[in-house]
Amino acid sequence: MSPFLLTRTLPEDATDAALRSDVLHGLTRTPKELPPKWFYDTRGSELFEEITRLPEYYPTRAEREILAARAPEIAAASGARTLVELGSGSSEKTRYLLDALPELHSYVPVDVSESALVGAAEALLAERPTLHVHALIADFTRGLALPGTPGPRLVAFLGGTIGNLLPAERGVFLRSVRSLLSPGDSLLLGTDLVKDEDVLVRAYDDAAGVTAEFNKNVLAVIARELDADVDPADFDHVARWDRGNEWIEMRLRARHAVTVKIPELDLVVPFEAGEEMRTEVSAKFRQEGVRKELADADMELTRWWTDEAGRFALSLAGPR
Ligand code: SAH
Ligand code: TRP
Repeated sequence: MSPFLLTRTLPEDATDAALRSDVLHGLTRTPKELPPKWFYDTRGSELFEEITRLPEYYPTRAEREILAARAPEIAAASGARTLVELGSGSSEKTRYLLDALPELHSYVPVDVSESALVGAAEALLAERPTLHVHALIADFTRGLALPGTPGPRLVAFLGGTIGNLLPAERGVFLRSVRSLLSPGDSLLLGTDLVKDEDVLVRAYDDAAGVTAEFNKNVLAVIARELDADVDPADFDHVARWDRGNEWIEMRLRARHAVTVKIPELDLVVPFEAGEEMRTEVSAKFRQEGVRKELADADMELTRWWTDEAGRFALSLAGPR
């Protein structure tokens, strides 16, 4: 196995402090809320991979279809020698880009999930021993320092993960991505598209209950990391389409009155029966909205591809 570089940009105690602060603020505000990046411990990353294989969860297959058809065009337009991927997870779909980029020197996957990064880097290097892989354990919402690998740079952000940020957070995030781009660099952005409500809700509330388990896993993370007294079985998974905001909202609903206790944080949090806590949004997009959000961050949409059924889009953008 070829070696790869693994850089931790966040010390483990900083991650811990961030979790404490997020839990403290989220559980004491009204309505209660938990931020999504805490879904992805080792178990959470496994559950997400299982979600991508569910019959109801179309985004992964739709995005793969676009990559399979368009990777050569993306490669020709970007001419990338470094591929940076934000929220890379298993890097499974990324293979289409790696295969299409003959001049590629370095691959820089960025993720908060160390287990996902290590698994992906080992699998890639087994297939491509000459690729330079520099994995970064980092929070992509916090501003990134990238290694000094050769340009041009293609920054990929796949999976529709941008939809898990709230609109104001997306603005800040896209500006920080823009700051990583020099002239000639590009951004490849995957966005799930607005569609029929039933199709959307089923993608986030599957019959086998995998998404429910994934959503409840955030409580297991809190129980383990903060020694909290909280039982995931006391909560139900809820996924709703918010027509006004055009996003799917994931919540956890208390099945009966429960009290969550976190002595480390001096926290005793009562939930009424039926009380709901937001855990994640997954925004769905239209071309005009994507174009405008990119323009607001000083980028220009240059290409737009969808799958045959028009469910999901890949955008290519460059600095303006
Ligand atoms: N790109 C993959 C995985 C998408 S799931 C795909 O398309 O299938 C979202 C990924 O983003 C997970 O691997 C998760 O660990 C990572 N992630 C979520 N929030 C993050 C953050 N703030 N910083 C870095 N990575 C994050
Ligand atoms: N980026 C994925 C999406 O929005 C993440 C995701 C899929 C997710 N299913 C989920 C997040 C269920 C929370 C709960 O499609």
